[in-house]
Amino acid sequence: MKILITEKIAQDSVEYLVDRGFEVDQKLGLSQDEIKSIIAPYDALIVRSVTQVNADLVGAATSLKVVGRAGNGIDNIDVKACTAKGIIAVNTPEANIMAAGELAVALSFATFRNICIANEAARRDDFRRGQMIGNELEGKTAGIIGLGRIGSIVARKLKGIGMNVIAYDPYISGESFDRVGAKRCATLDELIEVSDLITFHTPKTKETYNMLDAEKIAKCKKGVRIVNAARGGLVNEQALYDALVSGQVAAAGIDVFDKEPSYDKAPGEQNYQNKLLELPNCVVTPHLGASSHEANHNVGTAVTELVAKALEGELVAAINMPSSSGNMAFLRPFASLAEKLGKIYYQAEKTPVRKIEVCYRGELAKQETGILTLSVLKGFLSALTTERVSFVNVRQSVEERGVEVVESKTTQVKRYNNLIHVKFFTEDGRELSVNGTVFGVDTEVLVTFFGYQMNFELAPMVIAMQNEDVPGIIGKVATKLGENNINIGSMHWGRKPGSGKAQSFIAIDEMVSDSVISELESMPGVLRVTQLDFS
Ligand code: NAD
Ligand code: MLT
Repeated sequence: MKILITEKIAQDSVEYLVDRGFEVDQKLGLSQDEIKSIIAPYDALIVRSVTQVNADLVGAATSLKVVGRAGNGIDNIDVKACTAKGIIAVNTPEANIMAAGELAVALSFATFRNICIANEAARRDDFRRGQMIGNELEGKTAGIIGLGRIGSIVARKLKGIGMNVIAYDPYISGESFDRVGAKRCATLDELIEVSDLITFHTPKTKETYNMLDAEKIAKCKKGVRIVNAARGGLVNEQALYDALVSGQVAAAGIDVFDKEPSYDKAPGEQNYQNKLLELPNCVVTPHLGASSHEANHNVGTAVTELVAKALEGELVAAINMPSSSGNMAFLRPFASLAEKLGKIYYQAEKTPVRKIEVCYRGELAKQETGILTLSVLKGFLSALTTERVSFVNVRQSVEERGVEVVESKTTQVKRYNNLIHVKFFTEDGRELSVNGTVFGVDTEVLVTFFGYQMNFELAPMVIAMQNEDVPGIIGKVATKLGENNINIGSMHWGRKPGSGKAQSFIAIDEMVSDSVISELESMPGVLRVTQLDFS
C-alpha cells in the first residue's frame, strides 16, 4: 500500500513505515494543486498543518483510506468530506502539547524582557541596555484563552513563575480551572480588561477566528503583551499591527499566521509577505510550537503507528469515529469478535434484515461501545457491498439500506463476564441472534448461534452444518471431508433443546468447493450446510 507524506516528520517514523512494508513517498513543499495531481494512487496521506486536506483534495483521492494529521489541530482537515468517503482521519492530540506549551511560555518571556530586540541589537554592536528595559512577569496577570491541554500546561507553568493566572473557556467545567489554579472569567472582556499577558490556546473556529479584533484590543490594558502559539487569525493581524505601532500592545509573540508561509522552502524560494514581520516588538517564530525533538519523535511515532494500523484494518482511535476513552486495549479483541458476529448473518441467511440490535453485557456495558457496534455493522455489510465501507461511514451505509440500529447495555451477567449479543430482526418477522465473548486475552468464542448453544473458538474458515440430532452423522461428515482432502482444525456441535436438531461448526484450513458442500447436504440427516469466511 502507498503512503504520501507532504510535510516533514521524524525520519525514524518514515523508516518504520517502510520496514512495515509500505511504499512511502515523502514529497515536501508541493503546492495544493501538485498534491491533488498525484494523490489518486495513495492509500494514506500524512500531513502536518500546511497541507489542506479539503473537499477538493479528498475528491481527487480515489484510493485514500486514511489521513494522518501529524499533530494536534485539525482545522486543515475537512473531516466531513473524509467521513463521507469512508476515509479514517487520525491525529496525535497529546504528542506535542508540552512543546507547544513551552513555546508559548518562551514567547511570553521574550515579549516581557525584549530578548529578541536585545539579541538583534547586540549583533549590530548596539549594547545600550537602557533602551531594552522590560518588565517582570512575577506578580502580573496572565489571561489564558482556552484552558484545554496546552492552555492548562501554560497555566501551570506561568503560575509556577509567580503570575496571577486567569482563564476564559466557556466550554469546560469549573474543576478544570481549579485543577490548574486559574481564576475563571465569565466573559472574554472580563479577561482582557485586566490581563498583562494574553495567551491563546483555542482551536480555530468560526467563534475564535478574529476573537481579538481592534475593538477588543482597545479594551485591553495599555501595554499588554499578546502571545498566539495556537492558530493564525485568532488575533486579527491588522488590528495587532496597528496596536503594536501605537503602543496599545507593548509586544507580541506570534508563532502562527492567518496565511501561513511554506515551512520547507529555502529563503528566496517564496515571497511571503506579512506586515507583522516589519515590527521589532513582534517576536515571530515559524510555527515552531511543536518543533522540539521530543515532540517530533512523539508525533512521528504516533501518527505512523496509527496510519499503519488503520491501513492494516485495525481499530484505531480516529477523529471521525466514536470515542473509546482510550480503552482500545480492552476493546480491540471485542471489536474483532463483533465484526465476525456481524459477518455471520448474510453468510448463513438470505432474508433481508430490518433491524439490528446489539446488546453488551457485563464489564463491556461500562465501556464506550460505539466502535464495537460499528464493527458489527462493518461485518454485516461486508457481504453486501463492494463499495468501500470503513468504521467512519458504515453506520450511515447500513441505515441507508433501511436497517435500524439499536444498542443496549446491561451490567448483569449470566455465564460470561462479557458478552456481545447481536439480534437480527428479519423482514419476515423472525429474530435470529448470535452471541460471542472473548476468553483470556483474545480468544474469540461463539456461544450461541441462531438459538443453538455453542462453545466454538472462531476460526478463519468454518463449515456450519445443521443436522438431525441423531447418532452417526458427525462421523460420516468427517469421513466425507477427509475423502475430499479437507483438513479439520476443530469441531464443535451444539443443540437447540426440544428442536430435534443440532448445529455443528467445523474449522477448516481452506474454503471448500460448492460440490463438496452439495455432497455434504445430500447426506442423510444433514439439513443445511454453509461456509463462513472470517478471514
Ligand atoms: P484542546 O482542545 O485541548 O483545548 C482547546 C480549548 O479551547 C478547549 O478547552 C475549548 O473548550 C477551548 N475553546 C474552544 N472555543 C473557545 C472559545 N470560543 N473561547 C474560549 N475557549 C474556547 O486543544 P489543545 O491541544 O490545547 O490545542 C490548543 C491550540 O493549540 C489548538 O489550536 C492547536 O491547533 C494549537 N497547537 C499549536 C501548535 C503549534 O505548533 N503552534 C502545536 C500544538 C497545538
Ligand atoms: C499542531 O497542531 O500540532 C501544530 O500546529 C504543529 C504542526 O502542525 O506542525
